[in-house]
Amino acid sequence: MSKHVAIVGVTGAVGQEFLKLLQQRDFPLASLKLLASSRSAGKPMQFAGEQLTVEELDENSFKGVDLVLSSAGGSISEKYAPIAVAEGAVVVDNTSAFRMDPEVPLVVPEVNPGDIGSHEGIIANPNCSTIIMNVPVWPLHKVNPIRRIVVSTYQAASGAGAAAMQELIDGSRAALEGRDFTPKALPHPAAFNAFCHDSEVGEDGYNLEERKMWRETRKIFHDDDLRITATCVRVPVMRAHSEAINIEFSEPMSERRARDILAEAPGVRIVDDRENSYFPMPLEATDRDEILVGRIRQDVSQPDGCGLEMFISGDQIRKGAALNAVQIAELL
Ligand code: A2P
Repeated sequence: MSKHVAIVGVTGAVGQEFLKLLQQRDFPLASLKLLASSRSAGKPMQFAGEQLTVEELDENSFKGVDLVLSSAGGSISEKYAPIAVAEGAVVVDNTSAFRMDPEVPLVVPEVNPGDIGSHEGIIANPNCSTIIMNVPVWPLHKVNPIRRIVVSTYQAASGAGAAAMQELIDGSRAALEGRDFTPKALPHPAAFNAFCHDSEVGEDGYNLEERKMWRETRKIFHDDDLRITATCVRVPVMRAHSEAINIEFSEPMSERRARDILAEAPGVRIVDDRENSYFPMPLEATDRDEILVGRIRQDVSQPDGCGLEMFISGDQIRKGAALNAVQIAELL
């Protein structure tokens, strides 16, 4: 049945991808409402050959709306998602506002689609690094329970929004031209640099992004015993995150078996050509739905055969955010 859909944060990096995906996937739309801040109200936008106008988000935005795709920041979702639900809409929320709420399902469709059924109006879309890791890790975990994961991320500017993407371009240009450049969207220059993920660092030294990776994965996998440690780093890449993942399984896992499982896994594409040193790269993951998985190899430091290494790349705006949310909406 066709839906009356509203996109909250439509002018942002993820909001724009929502628009693209609704068109590309032929989402059954009865109507589409584009919402952002007062700064963008009145701005024209093209959708499927029609011109639509961005409206300012307010308390009355959700009358007659069935489905809200929301990506305008946690505080906006905290305020407006309950209003949308009270109006009878289902909200698929891409912010961290409700992810760890025990009443709110947190869903990666390739992992826990069944959790959608328990929603009471809000379904949370997980953190981008978490989604990108979960897609290839879950099918392995299902056949051989994972005891521990050590993950290091190489995260794109897009995770910090459209302004950070522009800042990577402007900062690169300034650096090449020898001009001074003061970053605003990110805490440090993104061009020719790498730094600790720009989320709050706790007393234990972990930043919030790292914390999300283990908290959210445990909730999505329904496994509170899963041990995960993460190091999350921003790198000068536009819109695809990469991750080096070291896994310790409960039983030995051969490289061959892992490869066979991943070859069948939904949402995964193996890119692992040793002869030509051709492996997952963020540029090639860009604009793709699948998570690219490669460098699949036995961990030599685990003589019991229980260790596996891999390197993955996935489009942060697409599967890491908008596509995952649209897939949830399709399942609804
Ligand atoms: P706007 O462009 O009008 O500021 P990104 O994550 O790429 O930075 O995008 C953030 C999105 O959230 C944008 O669409 C932005 O709209 C929207 N947004 C930010 N603040 C508000 C607000 N107070 N009300 C509605 N939308 C907002």
